[in-house]
Amino acid sequence: MPRKIIAIAKGDGVGPEVVNEGIKILKVLEKYSDYSFDFVETPLGGQVLKDTGTNLPTKSFDLMKKSDAILFGAIGLPDLPLGVAETAILKIRHGLNQYVNLRPAKLYEPLRDKCPLKEEYIQNGIDITTIRENTEGLYAKIGKKDVNSAENLMRYSRTAVERLIKYGFEYAMRKGHSEVISVDKANLLECSQFWREIYQDIGQNYPSLTQKNFYVDAFCQWLIRKPYTVQTVVTENMFGDIISDEAAYLIGSLGMAASGNINPDGISMYEPIHGSAPDIAGQGIANPIGTILSVKLMLEESFQDDHFGPLIEDSIVESLGIGRTLDILPLVSSANSHFKTLNTQEMGDLILALLQKRLKV
Ligand code: IPM
Ligand code: MN
Repeated sequence: MPRKIIAIAKGDGVGPEVVNEGIKILKVLEKYSDYSFDFVETPLGGQVLKDTGTNLPTKSFDLMKKSDAILFGAIGLPDLPLGVAETAILKIRHGLNQYVNLRPAKLYEPLRDKCPLKEEYIQNGIDITTIRENTEGLYAKIGKKDVNSAENLMRYSRTAVERLIKYGFEYAMRKGHSEVISVDKANLLECSQFWREIYQDIGQNYPSLTQKNFYVDAFCQWLIRKPYTVQTVVTENMFGDIISDEAAYLIGSLGMAASGNINPDGISMYEPIHGSAPDIAGQGIANPIGTILSVKLMLEESFQDDHFGPLIEDSIVESLGIGRTLDILPLVSSANSHFKTLNTQEMGDLILALLQKRLKV
């Protein structure tokens, strides 16, 4: 297998702590498979902005453009003005045409008690993938603001909507799903009416997949009412931002959720969705599982590898019965005694050891 170049964008806050655990997983794969990786540091984010005057140095972005995939931690510093560091991520999403934001949220059985919903709302489990448009809508950044008013423009091109929705239907087929939900606000917004028309058109090519439209407000309710029925969801950029955070909390902790900014024909970027978490940064207590699951997503989506992903996932599930980071300790404090409380590195090492066991056989 050819050597893969992985751009490493650790960023701010807990970013470096969790990305280090992701790198460890890739390094162990090198030992037990044909994979070999070149890790190339591509600094970016709030601290880099303070040091160099830009949140995404040209050198970092050029290296990303030469990579096979990007592993990203988090960006944002509490003492910077709002949005100043965060635009780096939009520059990458737009600049590399990563038009799909893939956000799977699966509740692992050992974490059932960490789901904020009662049993009757969980039933046979939660496994929801939000497929979020990642390049247009309000995020296109053609906004302006003065003392008296501010505006952002929601605009969608046919190209952007078609490619996202097609990806969603193809993803559902690939995963053996039976339904694709589209979330919009077509009772008001022209962009959503446009979206819905395209969804219905494309859906005709997938007769085996049931189609369902939800207004975004109703869908936010549906997500806590019948989450166990939801499979693949396609939606526009900001709605997807919001509902994927809601879905991520249903699986026990934001720290568990992975994502991929995907360009199916180009370079994709994988990141945990939790953000820089300045309140716990530097303490070594962040949950690395969102990042490790992002590595799994990288193998599956960038390297078309269906073999190692399940081994990583099984190792995570097994680890959850042994030790856990603070955010996923059981709610009932007396039950805590069953689990070792682990820091970021220890959680990573535990998963690594369990993965190694699987790779050796
Ligand atoms: C995310 C984040 C970003 C977004 C921010 C940091 C711009 O919340 O990846 O979901 O809204 O897309
Ligand atoms: Mn978000």
